[in-house]
Amino acid sequence: NEEQAVSIGQIAKLIKSNSKAKVIFLVGAGISTPCGIPDFRSPGTGLYDNLAKLNLPYAEAVFDIDFFQGNPQPFYTLAKELYPGNYEPSKFHHLMRVFQDKNRLHRVYTQNIDTLERCAGILGDRLVEAHGSFARNHCIDCRKEYPQEYFKDSMAEGKEFARCAVCKGLIKPQIVFFGENLPSRFFSMWDNDVKTLNEDNIVIVVGTSLAVYPFASLPAEVPRKVNRALINLQKVGDFKTKPRKSDIIFKGSSEVAAEELAKELGWSEELVTLVDS
Ligand code: OAD
Ligand code: ZN
Repeated sequence: NEEQAVSIGQIAKLIKSNSKAKVIFLVGAGISTPCGIPDFRSPGTGLYDNLAKLNLPYAEAVFDIDFFQGNPQPFYTLAKELYPGNYEPSKFHHLMRVFQDKNRLHRVYTQNIDTLERCAGILGDRLVEAHGSFARNHCIDCRKEYPQEYFKDSMAEGKEFARCAVCKGLIKPQIVFFGENLPSRFFSMWDNDVKTLNEDNIVIVVGTSLAVYPFASLPAEVPRKVNRALINLQKVGDFKTKPRKSDIIFKGSSEVAAEELAKELGWSEELVTLVDS
């Protein structure tokens, strides 16, 4: 629609008019819903509305460390669903890769644990997995680390939960549960990025409800001289409570945004090649 076209035009202009313009993407579950992975909070389709079958006292218990200790089954059920390898990146993931290939990507901060940014080829030094990933595992009692396969194998039908060879504690992927700290890399990278961000940068927030802290506080920490944009089905977080005059809002699907932005930037061919590969 008209409004969407205007905001895509504004984002594209910032990038085209300045060869030094680089983007920081702050993303959430919304960029993966087109891959068939449900988000958390969308009414009806979100995971938290559909966890009833897991017999949870409350939906977020699936990511609660104390609950996990007593009953790991709900997390196992979810992990089996979300485990890397089951899904392909979305157009938006691929678009971020095109930004990287064009040397226009400063960083991707993701809340997602589906690792689709890596699948799309986003390089390790460009990527901050704020809520951890399935790549590493540790015993929740003695902290001993285990290889990825240790947890993966235990998801097979009829298997006991993965337990520590030393202390019999439960083994859990390094995914940030409620009450756990985010990886120190998240804080160090963001501190440094915020300090060095300048008027050449654009922060684009995509597919997140900005409901979970500390990630949700990042947009408010973006210096005023840096342009901000939001691509989401609805207005959220700081874009809603403390909007800035310069904010660019694209209300709609991240897939539509990816296609339209690629078109405006003259990168459609590159995007299609990655999507078809
Ligand atoms: P949410 O489910 O809270 O929010 C997803 C947002 O994306 C919503 O505002 C949707 O309207 C929007 N959305 C969905 N599909 C979209 C699409 N195709 N295009 C544009 N917008 C779309 O997910 P997050 O904000 O990522 O923690 O959730 C944050 C954290 O809460 C997650 O990382 C998770 C959960 O507890 C862990 O996994 C540890
Ligand atoms: Zn142990």
